[in-house]
Amino acid sequence: MRVAFGLLVLLLGLCGNELRDMVVMLKVYVQMLQHDNSEMAGRLTSSERELLDSMKRIDKLENLNKANTKVAFYTALTDAGYVGPFTTDTTLKFSKVFTNIGNAYNAGLMGVYVYKNNQKIMFNVEWKEDQLYKYFTNSVILELMARDEIHLALPATHVLYDDGSNQSTFSGALLFPL
Ligand SMILES: *[C@@H]1O[C@H](CO)[C@@H](O)[C@H](O)[C@H]1NC(C)=O
Repeated sequence: MRVAFGLLVLLLGLCGNELRDMVVMLKVYVQMLQHDNSEMAGRLTSSERELLDSMKRIDKLENLNKANTKVAFYTALTDAGYVGPFTTDTTLKFSKVFTNIGNAYNAGLMGVYVYKNNQKIMFNVEWKEDQLYKYFTNSVILELMARDEIHLALPATHVLYDDGSNQSTFSGALLFPL
């Protein structure tokens, strides 16, 4: 604005050929401005495009985050001492629920069989010959679908033990959604 105003004031003092020369110069000047202007407009649309892309990516991440349910549980079998032996395989209920984020633990079953739905995934056993405590620990990483259930079961004739010391525990956590 200030440049255009300056040129206008200058024009008042000019006439004839000088005026014509001035008009030519002004035309060139206007063309330059138009060129600058379209360049700026181009840059603006590319910035707008980048902004839109970023916003789309943020939306996508926010949706992913919402779907990223947090699941983790940690339970122990009982305070009551021995569980079993029974004559049949028995689903175990881990009655001490210490941590249950995401409510993924309900009828938690603890024992030597690990089941995914009705399919056996693992069998752990420890031979106990003396009066001392025996322990085994294992872990599995499974690809699960919604509504799949994991439980532990005590095989027929086997015995587990737990008391206030939390010796028999069952834990799980969602590593990440697929
Ligand atoms: C068993 O676990 C509970 C919950 O974490 C805890 O309060 C309690 O002290 C534990 N018992 C022993 C003997 O560690």
